[in-house]
Order: sequence, then structure tokens, then C-alpha cells
Amino acid sequence: MMKFKRADFPAGFLFGAATSSYQIEGHAQGGAGRTHWDDFADTPGNVIRAENGDLACDHYTRFESDFDLLKDAGFDAYRFSTSWARVMPDGTTVNPDGLDYYDRLTDALLERGLKPCATLYHWELPSALNDLGGWRNRDIAKWFGEFTETIMGRIGDRMYSVAPINEPWCVGWLSHFLGHHAPGLRDIRATARAMHHVLLAHGTAIQAMRGLGMNNLGGVFNFEWATPADDSPAAIKAAELYDGYYNRWFLGGVFKKEYPANVLEGLGPHMPNGWQDDFDVIGQPLDWCGLNYYTRKVIAPNTDPWPSHQEVPGPLPKTQMGWEIYPQGLEDFLTRTAAEYTGDLPLYVTENGMASTSGTDDQDRIAYLNDHLQAVQNALSKGAPVKGYITWSLMDNYEWALGYEKRFGLLHVDFKTLQRTPKASYHALKQMLALKD
Ligand code: FCB
Repeated sequence: MMKFKRADFPAGFLFGAATSSYQIEGHAQGGAGRTHWDDFADTPGNVIRAENGDLACDHYTRFESDFDLLKDAGFDAYRFSTSWARVMPDGTTVNPDGLDYYDRLTDALLERGLKPCATLYHWELPSALNDLGGWRNRDIAKWFGEFTETIMGRIGDRMYSVAPINEPWCVGWLSHFLGHHAPGLRDIRATARAMHHVLLAHGTAIQAMRGLGMNNLGGVFNFEWATPADDSPAAIKAAELYDGYYNRWFLGGVFKKEYPANVLEGLGPHMPNGWQDDFDVIGQPLDWCGLNYYTRKVIAPNTDPWPSHQEVPGPLPKTQMGWEIYPQGLEDFLTRTAAEYTGDLPLYVTENGMASTSGTDDQDRIAYLNDHLQAVQNALSKGAPVKGYITWSLMDNYEWALGYEKRFGLLHVDFKTLQRTPKASYHALKQMLALKD
């Protein structure tokens, strides 16, 4: 059981569940173009069993019944994403079926009284744009602006909220420095460019949407708390650098129009010409800030070249992902973000949840959700303006390089029959959301 009721949260506090297009839709359907995730998955060694998003959860044809389950649970909002390659298969030419699909999906949400919270880009870059350099190419900001105008020109009138890019850190660092996600590069120069262009594209999309007269626009950033492995100055410095390129780079760029000095020490020499002149675009005023939070990392220095540190195993209980369960980090990020970056701006938890092997009797997930909602409560009582909590994920799905075996859903998905079965966590949240006083 959840230990909260809806009435424990401020009036108007939104509860929702999240998904993303490539992870659930079934990307081989509906005339979507090839993406850099398809290329990455087709290259042996990148993705477990070389699995891809061709069919995924077949949400493309099943979205109506999925939304019935979302509504039956009592959720207020649904966070989803729009696939660039579905709307523009080669990155620039429009696929009318793709636009029609998101139009129908939007209306299906509204018919059920669910607030559509869109993310424009959750990682499925059209391969044709990756051929041109993808996130390394400054022109991506312009291309992304055009995609934004195309998709939001069609559905923007009915969105509750929109954020341009899910988790800029994953687009920049995880995909270009660590090579864990598409395009799978391990290249510091590519990283510096992607880390900057992803924010330039963010700001360009915000400008495009303001031009369409839209409001309630925000950004969705991911956060990991960095705990030094010990109290030596070297470990503290290492953790500060992790915090710098993971968390502070993006908040700094968007809300302070500057990047952290400790990160520029390493990335500075590789930045594209004229990056200092881009902050007026990057720092476009926002209406809210979204935080995705799952875990922390314990960081120790090492003798590698910059950033000269590594993650070391921590002592806390872990999820199926091997991620430590550390709810304190969520409380600390909510209060720190408000105190240092966003002030009174509404904050939303836009992703939080756990992967588990426990099947439909997922008591571990219920405990995780309780602990993290407690962290939200603590942040609220310290004055952080938290306005909503969106859990990851509505259903088990394609967990990127880890394929289909990491299960984050409130709904169990049988990937042979594609049948959905509500888990105990779904029922527990449903019960919580029904308790209005
Ligand atoms: C986040 C991603 C989401 C999912 C969860 C587990 O980083 O936004 O797509 O993979 O992690």
C-alpha cells in the first residue's frame, strides 16, 4: 500500500505516468524513418541481444486501451514523447501519418480528461540527420526548431505542457563520451559539441513554441547525486566534477547563462567556436523545470585523463538496474534546484521509478515510490515549489541498451502476447489517488 493519500499533497498537485515514443510505440509501423537507435542496436555489442524498438509494446495500435488504464488509475497527466523520425522520417520531410498519429493520441488523452505533457525529443534522431553529424553539428538547432514547428503546429494547441529535450545529459555525455547510448561515440570533442548543441536546440525549440503562442514550456533534466567515496579533498573534487557535468552544466546554461568552471577545464578546448554567444537562446525563460531522478553515484578519483574519476560500488540496496536506492537525493535536488537556480519556478518530478524482477507483485516498487514521495513531501515542507510527480513508467518497455529485460512499468507487459497486466504498484497508486480527503 502507498502510505499517502492525494490529499496529503497541495491542491492541484499533478500525478502522472511517463513513457517515450521509441520505447513503446513500435517504430517499424506508420512510416517512421530509421533512427540512430536502430543503427546502434544493429551494431553487435551495443544492445542486449541486439534488441530494438521495431514492435516494442505496440502502443502505436494500442494507445486507446493503454490510456483507459491510465485514466482508470486516476492519474491527471501523461508524459509522452513525439518521435522526430515518425513525423519527419528523413529529418526534414513530413510524414502525414506521423502527424495524424500524434493528433489522434492527443485527442484520446483529452477525451479521457488526461493532461498531455509532451517531450519533443526522447532520443530517436533520424539516421539521415546523424549522417550529417547529428548532435555534433550546430545546424541541429535549426533542424530541431523546424521539427518543433511542424509537430507543435499540429498538436501544440492542445498540450498541457511541453519540454523540448528529455535529459540533455544523456544526449550529450552518455551518448558521446561514455558511448552507452546512440550514436555510441567515445570522443571528448564530440561530447563538448553535443553538450552545447543540445542546449542550443532546447532554446531554439522554446523560441519556436513561443512564436506559435504556446505557454507552459519547460525543460526536463536528469540528476544523479554525487557522493564522494571518502572525505579526502581529491574525492570531494572528483564528486564536484561529476555533479558539474551531470547536473550543473544544464541548469547553469539554462538558468544562469553560464557553464560550471570545473567542467570547462576539460571541455573548454573542444567547444565549438562562438559558444559564449549562444546563451540568450539557451537561457530562454521557462515556465517550469522538470527533474528526472533515480539514484546517486559514489565517486572516487583515479589517474585517467580528465575527468580523472570513476564510479565505485555503494553500500545501499539496489534496483534491477544495479542503481542504489537513495531518496534523499530527490529531496536534495528539489531544494537545491529551487535555492540555486529556479527560485519560485514550479518544479515537477518528471521521472522517478525503479526496475524490478518482482513481476506483478512488486512490493519493492511500492516501497520505492513511497520513499520518493516522502522525499517530495520533505522538499515541499522546506518550501520547494513542487507541483507534480510523474512516475517512470506506465508500462514495461524497451530500456535502451538493456533491451526488454529491465522492467520499470506499473503495467506488466508480456512481450510475446503484448498483454498488459496491472501490477500491485498500479493498484496501490490507484487507491492512493482515489483518497481525496
Ligand atoms: C531515463 C530515461 C527513460 C528511461 C529511464 C529508466 O533516463 O529518460 O527513457 O530509460 O531512464
